[in-house]
Amino acid sequence: MKNFTFENPVKIVFGKDTIAQLPQLLSKNEKIMLTFGGGSAKKNGVYDQVVKALEGYDYTEFWGIEANPRFETLMKGVEAARKENVTFLLAIGGGSVIDGTKFISKAIKYNGDEYELLTNRKIITEYTPLATIVTLAATGSEMNNGAVITVERTHEKLVMSGDFPKFSILDPEILYSLPKFQIACGIIDTFIHTLEQYLTKTGQSRLMDRWAEGILQSLVEIAPELMKPEPSYDAMADFMLSATMALNGFISMGIEEDWVTHMIGHEITAYTNLTHGVTLAIVMPRVMEVLKEEKGDKILQYGERVWGITSGTLEERIHNTIACTREFFESLDIRTSLSGNDIPESVSGKIVERWRSRKWKLGENRNVDADLVRIILDKCK
Ligand code: NZQ
Ligand code: ZN
Repeated sequence: MKNFTFENPVKIVFGKDTIAQLPQLLSKNEKIMLTFGGGSAKKNGVYDQVVKALEGYDYTEFWGIEANPRFETLMKGVEAARKENVTFLLAIGGGSVIDGTKFISKAIKYNGDEYELLTNRKIITEYTPLATIVTLAATGSEMNNGAVITVERTHEKLVMSGDFPKFSILDPEILYSLPKFQIACGIIDTFIHTLEQYLTKTGQSRLMDRWAEGILQSLVEIAPELMKPEPSYDAMADFMLSATMALNGFISMGIEEDWVTHMIGHEITAYTNLTHGVTLAIVMPRVMEVLKEEKGDKILQYGERVWGITSGTLEERIHNTIACTREFFESLDIRTSLSGNDIPESVSGKIVERWRSRKWKLGENRNVDADLVRIILDKCK
């Protein structure tokens, strides 16, 4: 295990009717801006719960943060927050609203070109504090300090670091209004966050391995229940907590990480707007296939402990493990090829060229360059 420093300051308030606890979490002295997506919060009653809990508070609302939140939209939020002298941001939504709000929090007090907040990691700014009410389980953004922002003008999807939320409210009952497609994408996103931290080398940490396998096994177990018309509350609760635990730093202490699947997935979304979870379901099985030499031992461990694959030659076991992974995604009604999602072949070429121009070499061995990405994307067709 490598040396590490771990800190995660986010307070998690979890369970039924927890939005009502807002008054215990938020000071009345703040000038608050509530941030929302396109309207689901009004349809499913979350907005009404928030308004009721915030009676007597001074707040304004910013609506319209879209899926794969755009810099151009978020700058309108930044301007509104500056104009209203906002001192606290409360994001109410999925990963897109939360990430977008992290950008707003970073930009409000910044005097330079805000686009640079996405491209220059060295810029230090004073954050405006934020908190979240999660309406979609997937990204873990409610308990980390990352954000992924799309720039429409340049077709970029850029990873930014921001502030940790002060607190996050997670009520599994809010997930009942999600379309099954979003539940499926949330399961896949959570599964692949876990795999990208797990599927590198064996023998780094038994504890990290078992925690990651615990999340993967839980997801495999609850997925059929989650796809039913009325999943049980306990399955929703396990799903929601799995998503948070998969990307809050708890399963990556002192170990190598990969993230190649995510970076290719972000590029696919940047050019096509394809939903994040779908891009991952396409790319991950091919990353496993192309990198099966270097990841082989860990794929065997994953196959045995998560899918119960213990017989056959090593080659067959690896093959069957990759097949199980892909079939799992397809069992959630997600198509695991680019053509199956109507993505034109020209997109792959653009991704490879941009990877080359950025001189990226990613993955735990820093060897996934543009040529390997070409091979991976050719298999995604
Ligand atoms: O906009 P509204 O009307 O609210 O509808 C949303 C949106 O259309 C809807 N939705 C959310 N909660 C709902 C609901 N519909 C009904 N009932 C509810 N309770 O779902 C749609 C998708 O929402 P979105 O926030 O885009 O989904 P998700 O949470 O999957 O977030 C995806 C974004 O997060 C980034 C992705 O790249 C993508 O931009 N990620 C952020 C990460 C992070 N910050 O750590 C890590 C991830 O790997 C990921 O990259
Ligand atoms: Zn993700």
